[in-house]
Amino acid sequence: MAIIEKLHILRFRNLNNQYLEPNTNINLFIGGNGQGKTNLIEAIYYLGHSRSFKSKNIKDVVPFEKEFLQIDAVVDDVRVLLKKSKNKNTILFNQQKVSSNSKLTHLMPTQIISPDRGFVVGGSPKLKRSYLDWGVFHVNPSILKTYKSYNKALKNTNSLLTNNNNNKQLDHWLDQIAKLSVEISSARVDYIKKLKNTPFIPLKSLIKQNNKFDFLLQSGWTKDTNHLDQESIYKYLIKNRGSFARIKHLNYGPHKATIDYYLNNQNEQLFSRGEQKKLSIFYWIMQVLMLVELNIKPIVLIDDISSELDQEKIDSILDFLIKLEVQIFVTDIGNKPLSLDKKIATIYHIDKGVIVKK
Ligand SMILES: Nc1ncnc2c1ncn2[C@@H]1O[C@H](COP(=O)(O)OP(=O)(O)OP(=O)(O)O)[C@@H](O)[C@H]1O
Ligand SMILES: [Mg+2]
Repeated sequence: MAIIEKLHILRFRNLNNQYLEPNTNINLFIGGNGQGKTNLIEAIYYLGHSRSFKSKNIKDVVPFEKEFLQIDAVVDDVRVLLKKSKNKNTILFNQQKVSSNSKLTHLMPTQIISPDRGFVVGGSPKLKRSYLDWGVFHVNPSILKTYKSYNKALKNTNSLLTNNNNNKQLDHWLDQIAKLSVEISSARVDYIKKLKNTPFIPLKSLIKQNNKFDFLLQSGWTKDTNHLDQESIYKYLIKNRGSFARIKHLNYGPHKATIDYYLNNQNEQLFSRGEQKKLSIFYWIMQVLMLVELNIKPIVLIDDISSELDQEKIDSILDFLIKLEVQIFVTDIGNKPLSLDKKIATIYHIDKGVIVKK
């Protein structure tokens, strides 16, 4: 169960030396445009991923004219320190060095809804894979090693396809690709199955009970390959070695997987922008619920809530999340008062990067 007990953002974008002891339930941050709301959400996401969802470049998130970013927190009694500069990355748990980012992800599963991250229904395959693999990792942490080995095998394969045709070496890596690919596909299939088995979520404002929402994994292989069978994939790879060599890379495999979403058998491409958004949020809540059922309580981040949702949806989603007892960080511009007073919320104001409890 992940709860941030203390949060100290020493340096992150326009947030400088901000300290809070968050509510274990709802934390609402109100501020005008450009005051630091998204920066705060991004900082918490950063703590759980050691990277941003907005930018790949560390320079963008380090405060202007400073050399490093630093966030400290107490999460489930663990004292966490994350310090990053252009050349150095330090993660400490209780002052002990932690070697891998995945330890952070494990300690702090965070789920985010932000227009800056994009919506998964109708979104790019890359975004869909990233959502999917985040969930797969939390259900099955050992899969991380497989992803790493797969990426290495893919890199070596592509390099051999580009530079020469050392068939013996290439065959070795294609064999690895076939083996690792089956492990990845199986973990993904298993995860999707679990997700489909989560109980129906009674959020009428997002989806009606008689509507059939479905999602199908596309494995990244062609239809005539059995993506759960190593032999079938290996045969396919050997047979098509020549065509991969011509285009100098492997254009099939789990790195090309995606998910197709359907509502009442209609494909996501036909949905309106609003429908894509609603279903993305529904899918996102399904993931949260499934993890809660598996006793992994994620931290929930929602940026710019009233620009994304109307009052009815906000109320029903927050009520649902409150019952799940997850910790929530929400931001809002504050044009209209949110009816949060009746709920267990702590309200803060953000002004030019300074956070003040109301
Ligand atoms: N690396 C950085 N160092 C210092 N300040 C930064 C950095 N990156 C962005 N900022 C500042 O942060 C501010 C934007 O903050 P943020 O995106 O969190 O605003 P917001 O409150 O979410 O606004 P909106 O309501 O428009 O979404 C800008 O004023 C920008 O100049
Ligand atoms: Mg913002």
